[in-house]
Amino acid sequence: MLTDGFGRVHDSLRISVTDRCNIRCFYCMPDGLVAFEPRENLLSFEQIERFVQIAASLGVTKIRLTGGEPLVRRDLPVLVRKLAGIPGIRDLALTTNAVLLAAHAQTLYDAGLHRLNVHLDTLDRAKFQHITRRDDLPRVLEGLQVAKQTGFKIKINVVAVKNLIEPDLVPMAHFCRDQGFEPRFIEFMPLDSQHLWDRSKVLTADEIVRTLSQQVAPLEEVPDRDRRAPATEYRWADGRGRIGLIASVTRPFCLNCNRLRLTSDGKLRYCLFAVEETDVRQLLRSGSDAEIAAALRSNVAAKWLGHEINSQRFVPPPRPMYSIGG
Ligand code: 5AD
Ligand code: SF4
Repeated sequence: MLTDGFGRVHDSLRISVTDRCNIRCFYCMPDGLVAFEPRENLLSFEQIERFVQIAASLGVTKIRLTGGEPLVRRDLPVLVRKLAGIPGIRDLALTTNAVLLAAHAQTLYDAGLHRLNVHLDTLDRAKFQHITRRDDLPRVLEGLQVAKQTGFKIKINVVAVKNLIEPDLVPMAHFCRDQGFEPRFIEFMPLDSQHLWDRSKVLTADEIVRTLSQQVAPLEEVPDRDRRAPATEYRWADGRGRIGLIASVTRPFCLNCNRLRLTSDGKLRYCLFAVEETDVRQLLRSGSDAEIAAALRSNVAAKWLGHEINSQRFVPPPRPMYSIGG
């Protein structure tokens, strides 16, 4: 098993398949030209498959594919099929902005993917355009409908930015209740490439729960079923679904962290905010399985206790969100 120096067992791996994205959310990407990783530096599907086989042999059971925007990586369903077939992988999920989802939903589902987290902050077209600098809300909504009909279990990721997203909370909650989606509100984190973040721009989980329970329906906290999951879950007291809160800033959950990340260029990271990385790309080209397993173990062994967003010592990671993989 992959156990770190604090006894935390790591069974969850998030794999970024590209750092490219087809939209430009301001809390993640800069507006102008972005220096993306040259394509020849990306791990191939075969390399990712091999890495996951080795990780699975060390106790990893959950895989999430991320980006950038994973659906801009050509033939993604081919990778999904490979990963879904690896013994030991019990949970496979994808985080997407859904711009390209309508066209790919069925193929992804057939390849063995059944869970999606769709990144969507607002149902207002002008606001969507303001946040993402692209006018793609209709495509996202279409993607959601197609995915729902295909049979996907869907969560909606909302980045909670203060003085911005408040008017969208209630419409989003109603939309999710009506559609059978679970919204997850993620406190804005200092991962943006433009360094716009400061604490005053975080809309906190407490404020969100207060607004929704006053203006939509009463909420009650779900007794913590999975302590390792980053989200605190609440359910609507009227029985119409749940919401999740990822309170990375106001209620850090590092003590329960079970996650590792692999970037699209083959760097292993034990934390979203990690400053150091382990290069596995070279090992995947010319190393043995035992060397790759050793690299995984040593990365986990070096894991720190947690991020220090709330302290003076905090240093933003050297990569922004799109290049780490959410
Ligand atoms: N803070 C919090 N969440 C973010 N995401 C992207 N950038 C940030 C940020 N600065 C979210 C998006 C994406 C998920 C992987 O991370 O919602 O879906
Ligand atoms: Fe693209 Fe996701 Fe970053 Fe938005 S948050 S720009 S969808 S990678």
